[in-house]
Amino acid sequence: MNLDRILVTGGAGFVGSHLAQRLKQEHPDREVLVLDNLLRRGSELNLPKLREAGVVFVHGDIRCREDLANLPPFDLLIECSAEPSVHAGQSGSPLGLINLNLGGTVHCLEAARERGAALLFLSTSRVYPIAALNAARVHEGETRFVLEEEQDLPGLSAEGTSEAFPLEGARSFYGSTKLAGELLLQEYVFSFGMPALINRCGVLAGPGQMGKVDQGVVTLWVARHIFGIPLQYTGWGGKGKQVRDMLHVEDLFQLLQKQLARPELWDGRVYNVGGGLEVSASLLELTGLCRQATGKEIPIGSSPKTNPVDVRIYLSDARRVREEFDWSPQHSVRDIVTAIRDWIEENREELRPIFCS
Ligand SMILES: NC(=O)c1ccc[n+]([C@@H]2O[C@H](COP(=O)([O-])OP(=O)(O)OC[C@H]3O[C@@H](n4cnc5c(N)ncnc54)[C@H](O)[C@@H]3O)[C@@H](O)[C@H]2O)c1
Repeated sequence: MNLDRILVTGGAGFVGSHLAQRLKQEHPDREVLVLDNLLRRGSELNLPKLREAGVVFVHGDIRCREDLANLPPFDLLIECSAEPSVHAGQSGSPLGLINLNLGGTVHCLEAARERGAALLFLSTSRVYPIAALNAARVHEGETRFVLEEEQDLPGLSAEGTSEAFPLEGARSFYGSTKLAGELLLQEYVFSFGMPALINRCGVLAGPGQMGKVDQGVVTLWVARHIFGIPLQYTGWGGKGKQVRDMLHVEDLFQLLQKQLARPELWDGRVYNVGGGLEVSASLLELTGLCRQATGKEIPIGSSPKTNPVDVRIYLSDARRVREEFDWSPQHSVRDIVTAIRDWIEENREELRPIFCS
């Protein structure tokens, strides 16, 4: 697999900008190009670090085929552009979300096919159906919900959700557009021999994420502590016991490096990617870590009503990707919180409008 020229779509966003910048740092001989329409508020703040790293930025939109057609040749496309909120399209028409997340992904697939390029797809744990995830056997611990060892559904254990988890049922429009993108990608692999991998990620976190109420919860939580803005535990009884695993974006980059070194595995296969039980926290626990990291306490309200697209607990059972690539996350939840705190403190005035309005 040739890797001389790499395109990162959504490359000004949280994940895309980190991967693009680190790829260029580690492989200065490669050309790294990013395409982004700067839809995500604050993504323009990631542009200077891309420029400094020697990454070329193109302002463009994956919904527009010409924008992709006009790009110079590339050997690998890393698809990181999306509306990444699970709440998108849930009230009102989902058409815009579908055009972006699915229509845009199809354009990326076509652009890669036309150039004989490989494609890495950043998918999501949200492809798993909500009702099935919420049917997991759990008990309520002091600070979090805990998965029982014995579970009724295949692909579910105390370690979390594996790739064998059933896919029947509704999963949000966001999750559906991502799953549809996965299915189409596998057709491109089958029909055109496109080298491709799918990483189904749990919560990704770290510096550079422009967290907001509906997406980027870890950054939002740290920022609200720093700027002294109240938060709320919403759903599941309003006690903040819902759990997510997390992965520092640098750990994702380290995985990418290992995946790029194994081209023989790029056959459209799917990996659950996340920190798993070891790197997980409930909101309540996250609050404790934020208090320690910032030295501040903020008021946290409670609203017991659960949003229909919310899940009580999600842990990535990432044993497949860990074993196949001899990879494991190196950053704890505490490391992630500390790194986000340092980033916000260092860029306080620039980030204030993002996190305070
Ligand atoms: N952040 C997470 O916790 C997480 C978890 C699982 C999967 N993912 C997936 O990872 C990918 C990256 O997510 P992220 O957290 O970096 O999101 P992000 O919002 O920070 O970045 C997405 C980028 O895509 C750009 N974009 C949006 N629409 C575009 C368009 N039409 N054309 C070109 N660019 C466009 C945005 O401006 C933004 O810079 C997404 O596909 C997301 O679904 C993210």
